Amino acid sequence: MKYRSCHLIEHGISINVDSIQACCLSREFNKGQLPIITKYENNKINWAEIFEIKRRHRKHQRVQDLFFCEGCYNLREDDWDEEDYISFINFDHWSQCNSNCIYCNVQTDKPKAKNNVLNAVKDLIKQGKFRNDGEITFQGGEPTILKEFEPILKLFIKQGSKVRVHSSGILFSRAIRDGLKKGAVTVVISPDSVTKETYKKVKRVDKSNKVWDNIKHYRKGLKEDFTKNVKVKYIIIPGINDTFEEVTAFLNKIKEFDIKSVIVDIEYIYANRNIENISEHVFMLMDYIETVAKENDISYELYDSAKYAVQNRTLEKITNFDIDLFQTSKQKNIQKNIRY
Ligand SMILES: C[S@@+](CC[C@H](N)C(=O)[O-])C[C@H]1O[C@@H](n2cnc3c(N)ncnc32)[C@H](O)[C@@H]1O
Ligand code: SF4
Ligand code: SF4
Repeated sequence: MKYRSCHLIEHGISINVDSIQACCLSREFNKGQLPIITKYENNKINWAEIFEIKRRHRKHQRVQDLFFCEGCYNLREDDWDEEDYISFINFDHWSQCNSNCIYCNVQTDKPKAKNNVLNAVKDLIKQGKFRNDGEITFQGGEPTILKEFEPILKLFIKQGSKVRVHSSGILFSRAIRDGLKKGAVTVVISPDSVTKETYKKVKRVDKSNKVWDNIKHYRKGLKEDFTKNVKVKYIIIPGINDTFEEVTAFLNKIKEFDIKSVIVDIEYIYANRNIENISEHVFMLMDYIETVAKENDISYELYDSAKYAVQNRTLEKITNFDIDLFQTSKQKNIQKNIRY
């Protein structure tokens, strides 16, 4: 059936510390509200209840946008199916980490949960309600230090799923390396810097060399087709790592290590607060990274806050352009009227 929705409203869940959400976006457009579907306790997830709520959400979406989705850039008109299944799972149910990034509240915000959701997801698969045509993502705290990370990763690789792991990169994971070699796993590491000084400012741990070394080892020996699955991210944090020198050092490192995919984001607290007013300098840095990436056949991707900022900037430009156009044509008409 044709209506406006998003793949995560339809068939996605994000498993948080004590709740199941449609996605993990809490942004300015949804006034920081988490799109909570339901709560769960004792590591038991009630899939029947989730499907029931999702059916209600989809019905709602045919009439008007859910309150937590209003204004989201992921909404699009499409022909959505009506079946109950999950194909996008975001694991976000723990908060332990081996880094201490300046922009991240994962360690302070979430209770130190000791959740174990492996059995619950096994149950979903057993019920035949999982389809492998979406994506499995790991956000959390740091996945590589989570006890059930490897079993969950292996379970979904076995299902033939695409898996994207966000990692601090401090610990080298053999399971990630094996998944990369099979082309089943994508790893995203965000050092946001190269120089030791900036790394320390951003991450507040002294692990720059270790992280870049691990990036190099994940990339090493991958088949040509899978090289883009090692993705290195640069979160632009105004006032901290937003100099051309730091970005140039980053791009040089990417080229030196033959990394074939970069992601750019804008620190989302800054982006949310200044969405109408993102500094031109930030956009210039983004353009610079994109240009160098293109010149070197490196794929270039934007993450949420950067996408949101670019979309907003484009909209603003179009509006201004339209006003200019309108005024010029109005002027011409006035002149015409005078002439005739
Ligand atoms: C919370 S982390 C958890 C996974 C892993 N520890 C890592 O850092 O990749 C998930 C993703 O959110 C990003 N992130 C966290 N805080 C952010 C912020 N304030 N702005 C933009 N991205 C952020 C991280 O870079 C990472 O890619
Ligand atoms: S907030 Fe956006 S990404 Fe999340 S479920 Fe709604 S439309 Fe989808
Ligand atoms: S490594 Fe990831 S989870 Fe840990 S503090 Fe940094 S962004 Fe947060």
